[in-house]
Amino acid sequence: MKLAVLISGRGSNLAALIEACRAEAFPAEIGLVISNRPDAAGLALAKQAGIATQIIDHKTFDDRASFDAALDAALHASGAELVVLAGFMRLLTDDFVNGWRGRMINIHPSLLPAFKGTDVHQRALDAGVKITGCTVHFVTPEMDSGPIIAQAAVPVVAGDTSETLAARILDAEHALYPHAIRLICDGRASFDGTDHKKEADTVCPPLISPSI
Ligand code: GRF
Repeated sequence: MKLAVLISGRGSNLAALIEACRAEAFPAEIGLVISNRPDAAGLALAKQAGIATQIIDHKTFDDRASFDAALDAALHASGAELVVLAGFMRLLTDDFVNGWRGRMINIHPSLLPAFKGTDVHQRALDAGVKITGCTVHFVTPEMDSGPIIAQAAVPVVAGDTSETLAARILDAEHALYPHAIRLICDGRASFDGTDHKKEADTVCPPLISPSI
């Protein structure tokens, strides 16, 4: 399956996907990496790996619709079969999202539906949860609300700060994202936009079993 990965910054999930795709048996390859920010560090990771990159700078567009139209054209031109959001920090229009329904996924650093949005690690600490984690889900117009494909649980430990917790969750993200993509490639997770509860096969062993 041909992937297009959308980034805005660091690109550590992109790096994990590049590594996963190096394995002969992995059922996907990255055809294109797009960043909406010219200074995204992840662009260099893609170039080093010999992957085509494209910058579509949102600041050069008048509105969200025209930015999304450019993004859409680039994705179709690349032959992408699955759009992988990996730290892509732009809200997308409903039209764009609906056009890629069932073919666009995102990773979020919490156990959704808990802690949608931003500042998730501090909010998890403030709430006093003992287990948090990360989620890969199909993207739907409502932010962080699409059908869940896979999750990994991560324990909160005494003395955690948002930085230490974020780092522990990030490690889990790097294992979870390739796992979720494999589920889609194998036909074990899908979403046709109508009834994901029937469509999605959520069979997924817990990647992390916290012992507290
Ligand atoms: C990750 O924590 C991901 O869950 C969130 O944005 C962050 C991206 O990090 N959506 P990176 O750019 O992949 O290092």
